[in-house]
Amino acid sequence: MPVEEKNKVIYISHPSGSTAEVALYGATVTSWKVAGIERLFVSKEAIRDGSKAIRGGIPLVFPIFGTKENIQLPQHGFARNSYWEFVGVIHDNNEEVSVRFTLKDTQLESKLRNGWPYSFRLTYTVTLGEKSINTVLGLKNEDEDTFEFNTLLHTYFNAPNIADVTVDGLKSLNFIDKVANGIKELETRDQVTIHSEVDRIYCNVPNHLQVNFGKDYSISIEKTGLKDTVVWNPWIEKSKAMGDFDNEEYHNMICVEVGSVADWVKLGGGESWTGGQTLCVL
Ligand code: BG6
Repeated sequence: MPVEEKNKVIYISHPSGSTAEVALYGATVTSWKVAGIERLFVSKEAIRDGSKAIRGGIPLVFPIFGTKENIQLPQHGFARNSYWEFVGVIHDNNEEVSVRFTLKDTQLESKLRNGWPYSFRLTYTVTLGEKSINTVLGLKNEDEDTFEFNTLLHTYFNAPNIADVTVDGLKSLNFIDKVANGIKELETRDQVTIHSEVDRIYCNVPNHLQVNFGKDYSISIEKTGLKDTVVWNPWIEKSKAMGDFDNEEYHNMICVEVGSVADWVKLGGGESWTGGQTLCVL
């Protein structure tokens, strides 16, 4: 069977041998293997019992990024902290296997629903190919009035060694440096490298990016409908401050997170929005 459900996790296999796993908690993609190699990072300290967002994989940030003074929601919103419904297999052929999840306001715990009191339906479609995974978020505003939101596909990549990691495609872009009190800067490097804590929102990013993992392999990122890209590595002190992250794991991960977070996205009553990414091992 190309798709199986066990203990609230959906296991997907492609005829080529590539596999993916999606936890119903957060609809979090927690594994993506191509040629037997795990391409996503999940902390060995990650909590998987549904009491905290899973530290790794592709958590979904929605409807806020970080925290907002006037919105009573946990950091990064509720999508990664809620159980989604598995809609089923959308298609399954030799090219790709596609599954879908949904989250409606009525599925939220009341505290979360009160924090963002709008009617909405999120759909999340995960499509596994031989060397690729495509993750697309759809949103329908089921209210009459406009609401605004932020969202991010908070992808944690497995990095054999962070010292060898480079990110292409960010040159000449403005970024907000969250490590330097939100100061705005211009990226001048062809390739972004990580040698200390990095927490940056690159704004208005072209749709093609590439993350290189030394000589081992690269992963291309094609995004659609999402303007920005966050690059994050907690480095030493922040790693120590996170209870669900091993102190040494910052050597082995990088987050390159496509989303729309620098500005609110407005969605009119009855309207739909979609945004997503395709990751492909090169
Ligand atoms: C990133 C943010 O997207 O997520 C960082 O830019 C944040 O500021 C990181 O630290 C992890 O957030 P959390 O809530 O999963 O610890």
